[in-house]
Amino acid sequence: MRIALSTGGGDAPGLNAVIRAAVLSAINRGWEVLGIKRGFAGLLGEDEVIPLTRESVRGIAHLGGTILRTTNRGNPFHYPRQLSSGTVELVDRSDELIARAGELGIEAIISIGGDGTLAIAQQLHERGLKIVGVPKTIDNDVSGTLTTFGFDTAVNTAIEAIDKLHTTAESHDRVIVMEVMGRHAGFIALHSGVAATADVIVIPEVPYLIDKVCEKILRRHEAGRLFSIIVAAEGAAPAGGEPLIVGDPVPGQARRLGGIAERLAAEVQARTGKECRSLVLGHLQRGGMPTGYDRLLATRFGGAAIRAVADRRWGDMVALQPPDIVTIPICEALRHPKRVDLSHDLITTARGTGISFGD
Ligand code: F6P
Repeated sequence: MRIALSTGGGDAPGLNAVIRAAVLSAINRGWEVLGIKRGFAGLLGEDEVIPLTRESVRGIAHLGGTILRTTNRGNPFHYPRQLSSGTVELVDRSDELIARAGELGIEAIISIGGDGTLAIAQQLHERGLKIVGVPKTIDNDVSGTLTTFGFDTAVNTAIEAIDKLHTTAESHDRVIVMEVMGRHAGFIALHSGVAATADVIVIPEVPYLIDKVCEKILRRHEAGRLFSIIVAAEGAAPAGGEPLIVGDPVPGQARRLGGIAERLAAEVQARTGKECRSLVLGHLQRGGMPTGYDRLLATRFGGAAIRAVADRRWGDMVALQPPDIVTIPICEALRHPKRVDLSHDLITTARGTGISFGD
């Protein structure tokens, strides 16, 4: 059996642990493993396809990033091609990809990625490619799996940052707004904000009212709590408004979100008179060593992906449904993207302890 691995979309701590577990599990079955570099670029002549051996995966389980590299501009169905005029058009290169996989004798592909990459995997599966998915996202917004690896690491990075902001905010009687990742789902903001005892958390699932945000800050002020911490997901928006976008559109790439922290800091300062500061935690959340939880989950996903290939579960992805790792159809996971459930006990408890969601 000759299989290939690919990592697509934004990186997440734990990718290397998936690769290691999958490669070793496959080699121990007597299979041969190839690595497609930079998403699917390796199959499109834009990068390489390399052999993955015991040696290639030695000592990588604890490392962030991905030894295969990745891209969030590599959709083979809408692949960017630069014209001589300088403009970029999107072309369908899926036939070429499937043909190249055949030429290389690749019998199955394990595609490790978030909702975008899994949607590509689903389309390739519908075109007849034998594919198994492994969900990956720090945002934790893939359905059918309790969590994805990378999420716990990102949450811990955010918690550490909020802890540090607390001491400086308190020393200066300031309001500090910290922006975290989360395009459509506010899991990182919610989990880090509750764990690190933020005062206000704004997430995409709850349109916020600036008056309510300021009300919470002023109530704390009146009670002698002269500082406050606000955690904002990048995709959060005021009631009736849209998330803030940065930069110009790039063909084949999702719009970049950002600016909510700066906006909230300016509005809160103008309305409350309190001195405000903002910061964007940004890609720190995607970097660094995966936590123990993420390493274990990633390792379990890697091993389960090889079993799914052995069982010919084409078009399925591995998923954590405690206590088990199961497989479910990718199309099922994509049908209802995961969002924060507003009736979840974490929300109820957060509200009960006084955290405001700006609503
Ligand atoms: O999908 C994960 C994510 O972390 C989003 O929350 C964020 O909007 C995006 O990646 C940023 O990706 P990049 O800057 O790499 O394009």
